[in-house]
Amino acid sequence: MIIGCSASQKLAASVADLLDDRLCPVETRKFPDGERYIRVKGEVDGEVTVVQSTGSPQDENLMELLFMMENLKDLGADYVRAVIPYFGYGRQERRFKSGEAVSARIVARLLEAAGADEIITVNLHENCLSEFFTVPVTELSAMPLIARHISFLDDPVIIAPDKGAMGHAREVSSILGCECDYMEKVRLSPETVETRVRDLDVEGMDAVVVDDIISTGGTIVNAAGILRNCGASSITVCCVHPVLVEDALLKIFSAGVERVIATDTLKSEVSEISVAPLIAEAIK
Ligand code: R5P
Repeated sequence: MIIGCSASQKLAASVADLLDDRLCPVETRKFPDGERYIRVKGEVDGEVTVVQSTGSPQDENLMELLFMMENLKDLGADYVRAVIPYFGYGRQERRFKSGEAVSARIVARLLEAAGADEIITVNLHENCLSEFFTVPVTELSAMPLIARHISFLDDPVIIAPDKGAMGHAREVSSILGCECDYMEKVRLSPETVETRVRDLDVEGMDAVVVDDIISTGGTIVNAAGILRNCGASSITVCCVHPVLVEDALLKIFSAGVERVIATDTLKSEVSEISVAPLIAEAIK
């Protein structure tokens, strides 16, 4: 049985469809004071998969997932699999400054305490997040789906907007059989990044910037400016998780990017690649 929580309803339905599984009706709403209400409207037993991304509003979506899992166990499920396509709070995986809460570890502990027997997720921001869990964690990569989706480009070159994204760029470029390169980025604050200009061999080529997350868009805006100066003939941007804070998309298009392509781990205007087949295959 598949359960879709409010942040991932369509994705849950697609996964259920691909697996020919039952999509259990649920009621999720808020009380007038803002507190969350959850009701499972079906018989619960055996193995249950809950699909819920924990992007914005992170606290509400996380709370809903925790309520759902605990409730399912209480209603008779003996195995609860949490599919968390976008793992919110995943960027605070350590204490960068003294006194900070290691939010990703706290979330992992909460998920287990609520009854998660297994976690399936897509492109974690930091691979070490899986070490915070004692239950099995499967991290799927959406890069092959992205590579297939952009295979129409004539002369692509894949660019990682920072060294950390180089693994993603390599994964895509090896599937497409093209070159890849990276940029050097320094993050000055959560909102500001500085990207050093390196000589990139992209003249007359279709540059494709590949990253795991687009949040404020600052990283991509910088990358696009450099690629234009280096003579790229077109700029496409692909990411797994379109967090897209406020006017991020507008900033990216204004910077001369032709296309922004993302997956549906989070709902957005550019979520054109579905990770449902990836998740369904992993559950199988
Ligand atoms: C950073 O390490 C990530 O891979 C992304 O590059 C980053 O999260 C993007 O953030 P923003 O869109 O705010 O520059």
